[in-house]
Amino acid sequence: MTFLGCGYLGATYAICFAELGYEVLGVDVDERKIQALAAGQVPFVEPGLSELLNRNLAAGRLAFTTDYQQAADHGDVHFICVGTPQRADESASADLTYVEAAVTSLVPHLTRDALLVGKSTVPVNTTEWVAQLAAKHAPSGVQVEVAWSPEFLQEGHALEDVLRPNRLVFGVSSPAAEAALRAAHRGVFELALQDDRQVPVVVTDPATAELVKVAANAFLATKISFINAVSAVCDAAGADVTDLAKAIGLDARIGTAFLRAGVGFGGGCLPKDIRAFQARAAELGVGHELRFLHEIDGINQRRRLHVVQLAAGLLDRTSSRPTGADLTGCTVAVLGAAFKPHTDDVRDSPALAVAGMLHQHGANVVVYDPAGMDNARRVSPHLQYAPSFEDAVSDADLVCVLTAWDEFRHADPAAIAQLVAAPRVIDGMNCLDADLWRAAGWTYRGIGRQQHS
Ligand code: UGA
Repeated sequence: MTFLGCGYLGATYAICFAELGYEVLGVDVDERKIQALAAGQVPFVEPGLSELLNRNLAAGRLAFTTDYQQAADHGDVHFICVGTPQRADESASADLTYVEAAVTSLVPHLTRDALLVGKSTVPVNTTEWVAQLAAKHAPSGVQVEVAWSPEFLQEGHALEDVLRPNRLVFGVSSPAAEAALRAAHRGVFELALQDDRQVPVVVTDPATAELVKVAANAFLATKISFINAVSAVCDAAGADVTDLAKAIGLDARIGTAFLRAGVGFGGGCLPKDIRAFQARAAELGVGHELRFLHEIDGINQRRRLHVVQLAAGLLDRTSSRPTGADLTGCTVAVLGAAFKPHTDDVRDSPALAVAGMLHQHGANVVVYDPAGMDNARRVSPHLQYAPSFEDAVSDADLVCVLTAWDEFRHADPAAIAQLVAAPRVIDGMNCLDADLWRAAGWTYRGIGRQQHS
């Protein structure tokens, strides 16, 4: 099998499926990425992946190439794992350029029938379009079938999510495609049996499978914005959103997951997916039904400004500016740049966005992240970066913890208090022990936990 596209998604899948025993070829147009992977270097941070890459390269089950001819020769099943970024235009719809490029690069080289399986997150009805594209470019006599099987992996937890998925969704148009997909996942089923588990498989049509993915991400985004909106009420009323989330989450119909209030959701998936979902619904004439996703996005964006306003309040620098903050001359340590822990991914990172806003409001911002520094520097070169946690907080008037890394969660507040200019902390992910920090002399502000002031 081949995996077309070797970014976070494709590289992780290629490596994990080699681990499951398949002969895998990873394909990408980026020569440097392919050279790195072939040399045993994972070009991003994902716990455990490097070990698996090297083990499977050594076992000879895994190879990487930029050559689509080689890909066509190698596989009968080709997984499309390329990026589907948000378009830069007003529509905010998904850009399918890379999907088109992968299909039109591969298909003309096929010499036998093949199954293309989309894993990328795409607008509903993309399978149909890919099938037409493939039919147009296929050599005569070669049949190309197209299916969609969305992925649900979470960065930082990707190995488990791929090897031990909580469900598989096969969007197929024929029994043959279903059989091929089941065979391509035999390793996943066998692993589940060893652990005495079952992997639920939902077999459906391609359009439903495509929608499952965007609906799942939209629901997760909705949960987060819901709890964040409620956190504002908690702040206003002197209640505690962490206790509230725990209490409502104990109702199995609600569940505790994705109810952590904070600085909002980011990353390369949830923000762009809710916008693309709305854009596609509008194209289908039902955009009004998903208008609430616009508000979900709005709540999320306002969370970032909320941190700036919290900072202004704590530093006694509220102003008559439209945002209510003027931080000129204040030194703020921003702990976190990655959009969440256990990754170096800074795409649409709330931490980095807040750091940028604090800077815009005049603060002298110093950023530190255990893994995301190189990417952060590339995206936000105008900010200052410290080589360590201690350097970042040194002489700070305010510390903002915006990514819930263990290094920050388990830090000793008494020791850090010795380094800062003033012991004030904003816990943007509600990941610190508020009582411990206050006992060490800190003025602590969480999100939706105003009664802990
Ligand atoms: C997300 C989905 O969770 C995956 O199921 C999906 O496969 C993936 O997108 C994708 O489309 O490829 P991911 O972007 O890796 O995964 O990150 P999440 O773990 O979902 O976190 C997204 C953001 O929400 C982060 O900024 C995180 O800090 C934030 N979050 C998460 C909260 O603010 N509160 C929570 O309770 C949970």
